[in-house]
Amino acid sequence: MLVVGGSSGLGLAVSRLAYGLGAEVIIASRSAADRHEELAAAVGPEIETVSLDVNEDKEVEAALQGIGDIDHMVVTTRPRLTPAPFAEADLDQARQAFETKFWGQCRLIQMAHALISPDGSVVLTTGIAGERIYTGSFAMSVINSATETLCRALAVELAPIRINAVCPGFIAPKPHEIEERARWFPSGRTASAEEVAEAYIHLMESPYVTGTTLVVDGGARLI
Ligand SMILES: NC(=O)c1ccc[n+]([C@@H]2O[C@H](COP(=O)([O-])OP(=O)(O)OC[C@H]3O[C@@H](n4cnc5c(N)ncnc54)[C@H](OP(=O)(O)O)[C@@H]3O)[C@@H](O)[C@H]2O)c1
Repeated sequence: MLVVGGSSGLGLAVSRLAYGLGAEVIIASRSAADRHEELAAAVGPEIETVSLDVNEDKEVEAALQGIGDIDHMVVTTRPRLTPAPFAEADLDQARQAFETKFWGQCRLIQMAHALISPDGSVVLTTGIAGERIYTGSFAMSVINSATETLCRALAVELAPIRINAVCPGFIAPKPHEIEERARWFPSGRTASAEEVAEAYIHLMESPYVTGTTLVVDGGARLI
């Protein structure tokens, strides 16, 4: 299983959980190979690591050629994006964030799908900003909504490979004001990365689920 964005945060939690369940885990990110020892200590000694930038055709192509056949691919890349009200937002940064998260996912899937097992899957990552509007998050709202639509479109075009997405809410640690606000969520708190990682495993292991976005937000979208 290939986890693109597995060197940190949610992707690292997915890698650790899958490894514990017996998966052969390959972690990819810009820094993954350079951080092999650190990641092997965090996930397990048998992991493989590969460095790639999802914005670079040649790097993705070379990495995938080196990896070969894949059963599942998880994508948890996070672009650099400073929250800002629309009127003051840096549109160049927003465009680059769209390039990395949305087009990066497209590039990976277009280049990898021929390597993915017919009974395998892809799990993308959207986010709560695609479900509920927060002032200052317009760019991430659009990127996440586009990713959700991509998931449905590719579930049709790339069948029998299953294409799903996880929509995380707020994963701790978060700034004080978000942790305070989380007291009002039905869950009463933010999530751990491990709790959200369970959803990726569920989607990979569910043979009849495709074109679905699984929201794991503790009810944050409801309030
Ligand atoms: N954390 C949250 O509360 C939250 C909430 C809702 C949605 N999400 C979504 O969940 C996903 C993961 O978030 P996270 O907080 O776990 O992120 P994170 O800890 O910042 O990890 C992001 C990963 O993406 C990799 N990456 C970034 N740019 C890349 C590029 N150009 N090419 C290849 N790899 C790249 C990073 O590694 P390198 O630096 O080595 O490249 C790292 O492994 C994101 O899509 C985010 O929008 C997160």
